[in-house]
Amino acid sequence: MQLTVDNPMNAKSDKPFSRTNPFQAKVLKNINLNGPGSSKETRHIELSLKESGLSYVPGDALGVVPANDPELVGTLMKEMEWDGESSVTVGKQGEAMTLKDALTNYCEITLLNKKILQQAAAFTDNEELQKLVSAENAAQLKEYCDGRDLLDMLREFGPWKASAQEIVSLLRKMPPRLYSIASSLTANPDEVHLTIGAVRYTSYGRDRKGVCSVLCAERLQEGDTLPVFVQPNKHFHLPESDKDVIMVGPGTGIAPFISFIQERAVTNAAGRTWLFFGDQHAASDFLYQSELEKFQQDGVLTKLDTAFSRDSDQKVYVQHKMLEHSKELYEWIENGTYFYVCGDKEHMAKDVNEALITIIEKEGAMAREDAEAYLKDLQKQGRYQRDVY
Ligand SMILES: Cc1cc2nc3c(=O)[nH]c(=O)nc-3n(C[C@H](O)[C@H](O)[C@H](O)COP(=O)(O)OP(=O)(O)OC[C@H]3O[C@@H](n4cnc5c(N)ncnc54)[C@H](O)[C@@H]3O)c2cc1C
Ligand SMILES: NC(=O)c1ccc[n+]([C@@H]2O[C@H](COP(=O)([O-])OP(=O)(O)OC[C@H]3O[C@@H](n4cnc5c(N)ncnc54)[C@H](OP(=O)(O)O)[C@@H]3O)[C@@H](O)[C@H]2O)c1
Repeated sequence: MQLTVDNPMNAKSDKPFSRTNPFQAKVLKNINLNGPGSSKETRHIELSLKESGLSYVPGDALGVVPANDPELVGTLMKEMEWDGESSVTVGKQGEAMTLKDALTNYCEITLLNKKILQQAAAFTDNEELQKLVSAENAAQLKEYCDGRDLLDMLREFGPWKASAQEIVSLLRKMPPRLYSIASSLTANPDEVHLTIGAVRYTSYGRDRKGVCSVLCAERLQEGDTLPVFVQPNKHFHLPESDKDVIMVGPGTGIAPFISFIQERAVTNAAGRTWLFFGDQHAASDFLYQSELEKFQQDGVLTKLDTAFSRDSDQKVYVQHKMLEHSKELYEWIENGTYFYVCGDKEHMAKDVNEALITIIEKEGAMAREDAEAYLKDLQKQGRYQRDVY
């Protein structure tokens, strides 16, 4: 099964593969890393880069060009009584394709924005929508968009006077999704691995699915292909092999650190490595447990500290483990360690930053201001790197 528009030029293309010319990578493996009883689904996906000419280094990300859920596309076409085989044009160049193809592979149909609703108001007499897009209701309009999608809008504000083409013209191009690469190319020639957490939630009474993560979790089989490109990340890289590294990567934040550790194993790096990992339950959510324990036995992973947040009465997070090891952590930093954080931007990365300041303040006997300046300086030296989303 090909998930997007066929790309017969894959093997023959003389143009390098890139964001605008993605490589159709064959799926070699796709497994759930979470065990029974987990509230999460995290997929470990292995893709072949054979004959792509693509290469990457630890810290880089892979861009994935997703396709929308065929069930959602089917519902849209059925409820709007649209003919999927009819022809529409998309984009600035006016590329022609079938409506079904446009809704599946080109248009973003899972998110709304103010502009879509404002323009859609021209295609309906629905008074509620006219009210919502009026200048004095800007805040309500923004609130309406959060957690709703195209299907909600079309259901709520009909009857519609628009053709399928007119609705398609309101939609923006679906952006590719980025994933931290979870493999070392040196350790896995011609392969790239990803760690993808399935995004599922309920909003306004409907179950919603993250476009790309749920495609990977529910519809991507071994042998299928996925359109991908490499997104280099100059600001998140391993230092020279003799330097120590501390890595903080709860949940899917573990991904680039698997790449880091694999690289250090295969290159016999002399520097020490210390990983802080956290997730909900040790029994079901210890991602890459056996691989990490093996790295520890082999001495590639010098220290491993885990924080399972829901195995005790009180929440235990990675920053609590950092604070527990405050003295040693500060010694590593004073010794020239490179400090890395990957994963949730909203809460975790901020709390880890705060814990770092606390540690520097306490162990360096500094005022808070000085501890903050110390951390800023680390950042300037490239010794505090973050890849958060
Ligand atoms: C540099 C970088 C590296 C990344 N690395 C990884 C990685 O290694 N692994 C990984 O799993 N992800 C990673 N991500 C995130 C990834 O790119 C996608 O954003 C993620 O997989 C969701 O994409 P999706 O298409 O499945 O969901 P989308 O269809 O894009 O849906 C996500 C959107 O749904 C909405 N939403 C989500 N939850 C709720 C809720 N509870 N209520 C209301 N609305 C909600 C939000 O608007 C959110 O932006 C990375 C991101 C970046 C930028
Ligand atoms: N921008 C996007 O499109 C996008 C898409 C997907 C994921 N994400 C983000 O990526 C993150 C990774 O998702 P994930 O499911 O792999 O892991 P996660 O939700 O980050 O959970 C991993 C562990 O971190 C814990 N945690 C929660 N709050 C924390 C905090 N403030 N400080 C430290 N640890 C904290 C969790 O505990 P509890 O669960 O017990 O609180 C859990 O044990 C998500 O949090 C999400 O915000 C963003």
